[in-house]
Amino acid sequence: MANVSASVADVLGTSTFLIFVMMLVVTPVRTITGWRWHLILRRDYGIAMFFTAATDITLAATTTGDTFPGSVLTRVGGHTFLLAGTLSTLLLVPLVITANRPAQQWLGRHWKSVQRLTYVVWGTVLIHLFLLFGLTTIFLFALAVSAPLAFMRIPPVRRWWDSARRAGRHRALRAVCTVVMVAVFAAGFVPLVQELAAKGSAAFVQQPVLD
Ligand code: HEM
Repeated sequence: MANVSASVADVLGTSTFLIFVMMLVVTPVRTITGWRWHLILRRDYGIAMFFTAATDITLAATTTGDTFPGSVLTRVGGHTFLLAGTLSTLLLVPLVITANRPAQQWLGRHWKSVQRLTYVVWGTVLIHLFLLFGLTTIFLFALAVSAPLAFMRIPPVRRWWDSARRAGRHRALRAVCTVVMVAVFAAGFVPLVQELAAKGSAAFVQQPVLD
């Protein structure tokens, strides 16, 4: 069990974050391409993220006693970075509970406000990573993937892009912006996937990479 606890935060934390990123990619892809067929993925990724984070916190609460000695509360909240991870996971509960049509109908116009919690989670996850890594590696990768996804959500940018796309205007400018954004995104996404591939396969065979 010691091996599982040493590797769980690395593997499930990175998995949760990557699924979160895939969820956040859905809306900008619609703005850029106009596609709608993939919108359903937003909910699927959200639910997958919740279950991965729930497994992460369950294992953190039960198996990390060697790293964070003390009670369950120490293991999920004994450090500010643990609290930020726990808060991010708890905030996913209202999101996942309301990620269905009956809840959407019941909440009416308030549904959107509940779904906006996603942005709060985005913030608390970045705080979790900043507290863990400072201005290095994983935090910087997380910033790189976040930057284009946040940029495309700035209301004037989104409106400009939507109308330019519909009118077929500014094609070259949009193409250049897309290439730059994909490059910045990949600069963060690729190392995160590599990290997961290295640590995930090591954890699978119960020989975690201890750094
Ligand atoms: C939405 C929920 C969460 C996300 C997106 C998330 C994301 C991450 C990521 C990306 C890492 C870096 C992994 C690596 O080093 O390769 C990480 C590390 C870590 N997370 Fe989380 N996390 C979440 C929830 C939690 C929770 C609930 C806990 C425990 C209570 C936790 C504890 C940790 C610890 C201890 C590390 C450091 C692992 C290490 O490098 O040794 N996280 N998290």
